[in-house]
Amino acid sequence: MSFPKDFLWGGATAANQFEGGWLEDGKLDSTMDHLTLGSKNRPRKFTEEIDENKYFYPTHKASDFYHRYKEDIALLAEMGLKIYRLSINWTRIYPNGEEEKPNEKGIAFYREILTELKNHNIEPLVTISHYELPYHLALKYDGWYSRKTIDFYLKYCETLFNEFNGLVKYWITFNEINVTAMEGKGYIGAGIHSVNHKDLSLHMHDIDDIKLMKKDYEDLAKQYQALHHQFIASALAVQLAHKIDPENKVGCMIAGNCQYPLTCNPCDVVLGQQERRKHFWFCSDVQVRGAYPKYSERIFKEKGIAIETEAQDEKILSNGRVDFYSFSYYSTGCVAVEANREMTAGNLTFGISNPYLKSSQWGWQIDPEGLRYFLNEIHDRYQMPIMVVENGLGQNDKLEADQTIHDPYRIEYMREHIMAMEEAIRDGIDLIAYTSWGCIDIVAASTGEMKKRYGLIYVDADDEGNGTYNRYPKDSYYWYKKVIETNGKKM
Ligand code: BG6
Repeated sequence: MSFPKDFLWGGATAANQFEGGWLEDGKLDSTMDHLTLGSKNRPRKFTEEIDENKYFYPTHKASDFYHRYKEDIALLAEMGLKIYRLSINWTRIYPNGEEEKPNEKGIAFYREILTELKNHNIEPLVTISHYELPYHLALKYDGWYSRKTIDFYLKYCETLFNEFNGLVKYWITFNEINVTAMEGKGYIGAGIHSVNHKDLSLHMHDIDDIKLMKKDYEDLAKQYQALHHQFIASALAVQLAHKIDPENKVGCMIAGNCQYPLTCNPCDVVLGQQERRKHFWFCSDVQVRGAYPKYSERIFKEKGIAIETEAQDEKILSNGRVDFYSFSYYSTGCVAVEANREMTAGNLTFGISNPYLKSSQWGWQIDPEGLRYFLNEIHDRYQMPIMVVENGLGQNDKLEADQTIHDPYRIEYMREHIMAMEEAIRDGIDLIAYTSWGCIDIVAASTGEMKKRYGLIYVDADDEGNGTYNRYPKDSYYWYKKVIETNGKKM
């Protein structure tokens, strides 16, 4: 027994990292449009005013999918993709977030894309909100910190569910919703304008709460409040999607923030359990089970967090349980009670370096076996269909003179992770889809760099937006095509 015959092999992108077309056809700024280019060691900077003479803003052109979607979808179809995860840019549909009527040009753009996918028999998987919201809502309402944002989001969802009814079946309400509760990520996860957004790197993370300052605690309290609003919005969106079309399937999406205890010291094991609850399980426990887990009471108490709720919230959560579980998986980290250990880099999977693992060029530890382990953990907890909706290797590729790209390292990374998924399926896990991240090169979320490439298709552009933007299939493209053709038998 290996991959089921209807297994959804796919690829994934996010609008702000891929589309470009910054202010075209009525679109206005989204929160991510205010982030400058960073690097492995230099965080992205947030600027209140957009000053293109002084800074480079990677989302403004990104990979130029906005003008090349036909060619891109044809390439994805040629690779044999069964499913394509894309996100919709809220600011194309409701440019400032609170207009009465949606922007017809934005709707037309996504309708063309979805129709194009349908013509190629590619199932879309749509993320409704992938790390962005109209910047106007961030400024005026402090993003998701305000309960009012729920109404704007639901109006946006209603437009999508009605307009694209019949074209989309699989929806994700929020990308990596657990990021909203991570220290220092309030702007990225929830567009909270009033939090500290000086250092916007998704790259590093300090898990040591003790080092947090008073302001950080205030920010964190705001983030948990914003997260509560996102939970309510997500649960209401699930109900709305089902009401508009009972065929709709709506999932949660969790950053695979996977951590092991560094040693078998029981104190490390307990710490591992606690950290994992806080940073990995908490959000899906709410979204899959429909209620805050009991253990969260202690976490809130210890952090001094009191969430404001309304009388109907419990009911909303329990009536808005998701249909499937999805997550991103790149890397793992370790936790230990003993301080002064060597830390590993990562976007969100942070922690102590694991001596058994090697690392990528950006210092993220590579752990295929962990994918099997965490798939089993998720299945044991929820017994529901699972999708791996992000996975891949960010590496600096070389475009050869004959326009080929040899990326054996990416093939190796993907092969090992796909083999781990196969083992998990043999273990009995109901895994229904795999979408490799950034299947066409996109700008990295953590650093804004183009050279941190995940794609199976190369985009000829550099970090500052120079290049032809032409597309070239990499060796991994032909390899993945074979994997899909043989349903995972030839790797
Ligand atoms: C995930 C995000 O956390 O990691 C993506 O959902 C992001 O948006 C991906 O691109 C990889 O991180 P990075 O920083 O290498 O792009």
